Amino acid sequence: MESALTARDRVGVQDFVLLENYTSEAAFIENLRKRFKENLIYTYIGSVLVSVNPYRELEIYTKNHMERYRGVNFYEVSPHIYAVADNSYRSMRTERKDQCILISGESGAGKTEASKKILQYYAVTCPASEQVQTVKDRLLQSNPVLEAFGNAKTLRNDNSSRFGKYMDIQFDFKGAPVGGHIINYLLEKSRVVHQNHGERNFHIFYQLIEGGEEDLLRRLGLERNPQQYQYLVKGNCPKVSSINDRSDWKVVRKALTVIGFNEDEVEELLNIIASVLHLGNVQYGGEEGNASITSDTQIKYLARLLGVNGAVLTEALTHKKIIAKGEELMSPLNLEQASSARDALSKAVYGRTFTWLVNKINASLTYTVRNGRYNQLICTNTTHLKFTAFIVFCSFEQFCINYCNEKLQQLFIELTLKSEQEEYESEGITWEPVQYFNNKIICDLVEEKFKGIISILDEECLRPGDASDFTFLEKLEDTVGGHPHFVTHKLADGKTRKVMGRDEFRLLHYAGEVNYNVNGFLDKNNDLLFRNLKEVMCMSENKILTQCFDREELSDKKRPETAATQFKASLAKLMEILMSKEPSYIRCIKPNDSKQSGRFDEVLIRHQVKYLGLMENLRVRRAGFAYRRRYEVFLQRYKSLCPDTWPNWQGKLADGVAILVKHLGYKPEEYKLGRSKIFIRFPKTLFATEDALETRKHSLATKLQAGWRGYSQRSKFQKLKTAAIAIQAWWRGILARRRAQRRREAADTIRRFIKGFIYRHKERCPENEYFLDYVRYSFLMKLHRNLPKNVLDKSWPTPPAALVEASEHLRKLCMQNMVWNYCKKISPEWKHQLEQKMIASEIFKDKKDNYPQSVSKLFVSTRLNGEDINPKVLQALGSEKMKYAVPVTKYDRKGYKARPRQLLLTSSSAIIIEEAKLKQRIDYGALKGISVSSLSDGLFVLHVPSDDNKQKGDVVLQSDHVIETLTKIAICADKINTININQGSIKFTVGQGKEGIIDFTPGSELLVAKAKNGHLSKHSPSSNSIS
Ligand SMILES: Nc1ncnc2c1ncn2[C@@H]1O[C@H](COP(=O)(O)OP(=O)(O)OP(=O)(O)O)[C@@H](O)[C@H]1O
Ligand SMILES: [Mg+2]
Repeated sequence: MESALTARDRVGVQDFVLLENYTSEAAFIENLRKRFKENLIYTYIGSVLVSVNPYRELEIYTKNHMERYRGVNFYEVSPHIYAVADNSYRSMRTERKDQCILISGESGAGKTEASKKILQYYAVTCPASEQVQTVKDRLLQSNPVLEAFGNAKTLRNDNSSRFGKYMDIQFDFKGAPVGGHIINYLLEKSRVVHQNHGERNFHIFYQLIEGGEEDLLRRLGLERNPQQYQYLVKGNCPKVSSINDRSDWKVVRKALTVIGFNEDEVEELLNIIASVLHLGNVQYGGEEGNASITSDTQIKYLARLLGVNGAVLTEALTHKKIIAKGEELMSPLNLEQASSARDALSKAVYGRTFTWLVNKINASLTYTVRNGRYNQLICTNTTHLKFTAFIVFCSFEQFCINYCNEKLQQLFIELTLKSEQEEYESEGITWEPVQYFNNKIICDLVEEKFKGIISILDEECLRPGDASDFTFLEKLEDTVGGHPHFVTHKLADGKTRKVMGRDEFRLLHYAGEVNYNVNGFLDKNNDLLFRNLKEVMCMSENKILTQCFDREELSDKKRPETAATQFKASLAKLMEILMSKEPSYIRCIKPNDSKQSGRFDEVLIRHQVKYLGLMENLRVRRAGFAYRRRYEVFLQRYKSLCPDTWPNWQGKLADGVAILVKHLGYKPEEYKLGRSKIFIRFPKTLFATEDALETRKHSLATKLQAGWRGYSQRSKFQKLKTAAIAIQAWWRGILARRRAQRRREAADTIRRFIKGFIYRHKERCPENEYFLDYVRYSFLMKLHRNLPKNVLDKSWPTPPAALVEASEHLRKLCMQNMVWNYCKKISPEWKHQLEQKMIASEIFKDKKDNYPQSVSKLFVSTRLNGEDINPKVLQALGSEKMKYAVPVTKYDRKGYKARPRQLLLTSSSAIIIEEAKLKQRIDYGALKGISVSSLSDGLFVLHVPSDDNKQKGDVVLQSDHVIETLTKIAICADKINTININQGSIKFTVGQGKEGIIDFTPGSELLVAKAKNGHLSKHSPSSNSIS
């Protein structure tokens, strides 16, 4: 943590305990001065923080600073108010003990600022939920409101708190602020009606007049000029350069909303503030003894603003109700009485409204304790009296404040000096007592029952007869005249008399002498408000006032407690609260009286060092021990740091602690063991131990976590394992049962099968029905898988006996279906082709050898196209349409000479063509028949009638496509049945009754020749490709 900043802080010593010459006041102040010059305003005396008001904004309150101090040990960082705040907070959380931070110092020393810094620190660093955020906001916003109503500009401080404040913040177990409470005491009410020269009334009056909207001021009947109001002109100081009333007004208005004031409440509150200003302007006139109000306007406003009857108010402000012999009489007031009655009313109204305001803020901060405990952290902020080397003249209020300071000093002595030293003695620690002044004697002088100044004052107030401030003074002289700390003009020596009035008494306070002027003591102590004025206020329609002035007060015959007694009681209560907490101290010092930054007024500071008891504090600190704890507490907290004491120490506590500190490596000068406690000299030692504990906590927590995780994982695993085993067993059972079932079924099936097989030839009966069904089923399934793929595929599974008929039906159906599907796909050309093939099949199938080779060859529409035929031929044909043409070989009838010819088929005749000549035309009607051999040759004979002179006899032709050619002729001539397929030989007529014979002999090659017998001989291969 040794940053540049902390290096800078090493000016002088950061802790006075480290001061070499610690008994020297000069050295102490020199250290303060050195640091102050470097703007290092904070220095420690052990754990007490001394703060010097810098009177300038320092860059040490940023969020970064807050973070730097958060959760860090005191000694590790340079002194700061955040360190104190954080330390208290952490002690509260770790030790679960309520804490308090006491901030003291004289007016203007920076107490209020310090308390604000602490609040801001908590607001930023404490954990927060949404609800906590509201509490935080309200805690922060309570400040501007309370300051507006309770602070004023004084000669010493432009923002002087004119009331004692004690604020308590409640934290839940998570360390989040969840509530708060403010106790106020002793508001300086006299300021409402009077201010010393150069001072002001409470801020709120100026804020309202400067910042209030036109509308609002009109409603309240106010003018924007403080000089118009009697209560604001006494100090002749309406404006202060360091205060911006207008912007402060805005802040206050916003704060009121945040705290939870609704518009009506704000309105009523402002009505009261305005009415106090109007009251101040109520002027009296009239004859001596009979005061009357000279202006009506104020009464009119007052009646409206306070919600009372104007006439009744007027009467109450000018008369006093006396009850004589059970009868009520109205006695007129003289001018002086009337003015003081008016002022008393103003003070009462303002004072009670202030208390109401605090209560209202408290209500908004109330934490409803649900379950679980909460800890408190308290900030008190007390105005120290102005003790100077010169004698000051003070009033009743200052008397009370000074008494309060004596009490706080007593508390400080009790908690630090006295009790500490007593403790060392009782614990048997060798110790050289430090001398200090015990102010108990002064406290007793003020507060003792019957003999104390407050008792005497009360007695004077309550006694019948002519009691006055002077009779009070006389009574004091009679009762406490011999007290060493009390002096009056009468009792004083000559030198003192010179600086004392006859109406004064002097108290020798622990820090200086103060003269008190008794004037007004009785009145202020009585704090009486005439009964009829109280009655008027009780009738008010203003809701705030009805809460402030309770009607029961009127019927209560008992005298109310005097101001001093009330104050004493509330102080006693405060002391009690503070005694029960662990205190931290912030001692504020004011560097000069002129509110200037950088000015270090040594005389003023020396005086404050003295009355704040800082030197004694330092001496005790140096000689003493920073930290102590009972053995059991110490052992309980740190036992985990030593194996011998962890987890439990069985022996004597002192021995356990001794072993523990030895293990921790404490040096002999760092600690002492008392009878029941251990004393640790330096915070550093303890902090080191705390750090070790923090680290240890982590490792313990890690071990615990690991153990727990192991345990939970193990049990989780065990559970899973048991579950898995259960599931496995169950599943295996299912599987086994299923298997057994299947086996049973299989055995059944086999048994049935065998039985069925044995009975297969019997009528259908229970024994064979399964088998038969199975056979049928398997046949059908086999069939389903092996259906013929096309019409030519004739395969078909063999059916069992029972399905022969069904199988045949199925086969037909299947075939029909395939045929149907096939036919659907046939094109007209293909149909034509097939028809021709059909005819060819009818004629030649199984009759002519080369027919099978022709089946796979498609018939063409013609073998000769137009360009292959001589145009003259085509011309000769004329309109006759040629249907088919093929090249052929013609054998002469006589010499059987082969001649190439073309055969043309038309719709009416077959024509043989030689080049351009139509050599022979055979009308189909004249075609007697066609002969062809059964062998594989291409020879065929067209028979024509022998008596036809046009014809020259039958025509012997040979075609390479004999099957196609003959089919075409048969179709064109419609002579399908006239084709003769001959084996061996064909007879034909050569003309004029002559006959020719063609002999066919099977041979290895085709040979056509004229045989010796004059026949045409033909060798034909039985399986060659000629067709
Ligand atoms: N830490 C600080 N940093 C800067 N200025 C400061 C600081 N503390 C105090 N001051 C200045 O000193 C002025 C007086 O401080 P503050 O009001 O806290 O005094 P006080 O001790 O509360 O006085 P009183 O007893 O009159 O209420 C502040 O208005 C502010 O200008
Ligand atoms: Mg203050």
